[in-house]
Amino acid sequence: MPLHPVIAGRFSARGFDSDTTISDEQLDVILEAARWAPTWGKSQPVRFIVGKRGDTTFESLAADLTAGNVGWASRAAALILVCTRDIPDDEKLQTYGAVDLGLAVGQLLLQAVADGLSAHPMAGFNAQATFERFSIPAGERPLVMVAIGTLVPDDQKDPEVAEYDNRQRMRRPLTEVAFAERWGHPLHPAARPPSR
Ligand SMILES: Cc1cc2nc3c(=O)[nH]c(=O)nc-3n(C[C@H](O)[C@H](O)[C@H](O)COP(=O)(O)O)c2cc1C
Repeated sequence: MPLHPVIAGRFSARGFDSDTTISDEQLDVILEAARWAPTWGKSQPVRFIVGKRGDTTFESLAADLTAGNVGWASRAAALILVCTRDIPDDEKLQTYGAVDLGLAVGQLLLQAVADGLSAHPMAGFNAQATFERFSIPAGERPLVMVAIGTLVPDDQKDPEVAEYDNRQRMRRPLTEVAFAERWGHPLHPAARPPSR
């Protein structure tokens, strides 16, 4: 069974085109996809701070990216900071708020791909600085920033960006991550060691 093309087509690219823009309508669809992600106990803790290249929100978000991200991510059409609730004495919300954020980001990434865009999640930013810059209240947790845009052809990318975008993508095989009966026992009988 082949993967859905949207899932197969998603990858974390860096070669964004700094000449293309994203419309408000495109951004709204991507945010809607995130908004409709599953949420623990209907808690809906996920919030977004959205900047389009050229506006002050984008400039502020870009300013808080790490040195390894700021160069390529500043060429994206949009940057979205994704936050979730984080209240120390609410252990369940703390745990599942992060799960909710991951699900929202996953849906956001796939909607972007479905719409012909590329989206790259990043943890490499100064979360503490975003609190002050955007007046984020205590109890919120900025966890991920996502760069969204269109990509330039490989021959127009900086060589190291082209190399990154064409790197071999690897995942552990299902035999190493999917188990049955007990931990470490491969789900698929063909992958199991011969029994004595
Ligand atoms: C929570 C999270 C944080 C990430 N942070 C960064 C980052 O700061 N910079 C970066 O270039 N990529 C970042 N990535 C992207 C991963 O490096 C990428 O997903 C991984 O290499 C697998 O590649 P793929 O997305 O193309 O499958 C992050 C991904 C996740 C899920």
